[in-house]
Amino acid sequence: MTGRPTLDELFECRLTYPDFDPQERLARLVGLDDHKARLSKILGLLVNPAGLEAWVKKHHPGANGIVKTVLRRPPLVVLAGDVGSGKSELAETIGDAVARQEGIEITLFPLSLSTRGQGRVGEMTQLLSAAFDYTVDEARKLQASGGRARGAIILLVDEADALAQSREAAQMHHEDRAGVNAFIRGVDRIANGRLPAAVIMCTNRLSALDPAVRRRAADILPFARPSDNQRHAVLGPSLKELGFTEQHVAALVAATGARNGQDYGFTFSDLTQRLLPAIVLDAYPKQPVNAARALEIVKRMAPTPPFKDGDA
Ligand SMILES: Nc1ncnc2c1ncn2[C@@H]1O[C@H](COP(=O)(O)OP(=O)(O)OP(=O)(O)O)[C@@H](O)[C@H]1O
Ligand SMILES: [Mg+2]
Repeated sequence: MTGRPTLDELFECRLTYPDFDPQERLARLVGLDDHKARLSKILGLLVNPAGLEAWVKKHHPGANGIVKTVLRRPPLVVLAGDVGSGKSELAETIGDAVARQEGIEITLFPLSLSTRGQGRVGEMTQLLSAAFDYTVDEARKLQASGGRARGAIILLVDEADALAQSREAAQMHHEDRAGVNAFIRGVDRIANGRLPAAVIMCTNRLSALDPAVRRRAADILPFARPSDNQRHAVLGPSLKELGFTEQHVAALVAATGARNGQDYGFTFSDLTQRLLPAIVLDAYPKQPVNAARALEIVKRMAPTPPFKDGDA
C-alpha cells in the first residue's frame, strides 16, 4: 500500500443499520443478553448523551456530577475471550439494536487487524491512523450542536491481538508500540471531540491487553464457551425441526460438553459451523438425518482447542 488508503479500500464491507440481516443475526446469538444490554446502553449514550441528562432530571434532579462522570468515559468497549464465542458476530450486529433504540442511522467501519496490516513495517500504525481519521471525519458530519446526533459511526477493530501483544510494554517491538499509540490517540480524539462515534475492539488475549488500552475501556465484556443450557439453546431448535426428540437433543448436548478427560467442550462456532452442517451433509442427499448417526458424528468430532490467553 502506498500513501493513505481510500475509505473503500480500508473498509470494504461497511454496514448501515437498521437493517434486517444484522437484526436477525443479533437475535440468533445465544446467552449474550447481558452483553447486548450493556453494549447498546454504552453506545446509545455516546450517540445521545441527552438521554442520560433527561433520566437524571426525572429520577435524581440536581445530580449533575454523576452524569458528567458517566458521559466522560472513553468511547471504547473491549470484547475479549475464547475463539468462536460471538465477539465478531455481536460487534457486527449490535449497531442495529442501537440504531433502532435511538431512532438514527448507524454505520459500521470494520477493520480486521489479522488480515490487514501484516505487511511492511509500520503498516498497522498507518492503517489504524487512517481508520481513526475517517471515523473522526464522518462522525463530525453527524454531530449535533446539542442533544441527539443525526447518526453515528462504530469503528470495529477486530482480531486486535496484535494490539495486545506484550504485557511488558518495554519489551514490545517499536512498531507494535507505535500501533498501540495510534490506537490510543484515536480513541482520545473521539472522546475529546465528543463525537457520535465509538470503538469496539475484539481480542482473544485479554491478559495481554496493553494497560493504557485497558484503562480506556468503558467496559470489558468477557466471552466464553457455551454452558449446557446454551448448547441446548443453539442445538435444540434446529434438531427438533429435523425430528429429534428431547432425549436425542439432550444426548447431543451432553456429548458436546467437556469429555474424554478434556476440560473444555464445543465452542458456539463448533456447533453452528461444523457440527450442524456435518450432520446434515452426512445424510444429504440420499437419506433423512437420524439421531443415532448424529451422535456418532459428534463423538468423532473434536472441539476447537481453547485459546491460551497466556501464549506469547
Ligand atoms: N453466542 C452465540 N450464539 C449463537 N451462535 C454463536 C454464538 N457465538 C458464536 N456463534 C456462531 O459462531 C460463529 C462465529 O462467531 P464469531 O465470529 O463471532 O466468533 P469470535 O468470538 O469472533 O471468534 P474469534 O476469536 O475466533 O474471532 C457465528 O457466526 C455464529 O454462527
Ligand atoms: Mg472474531
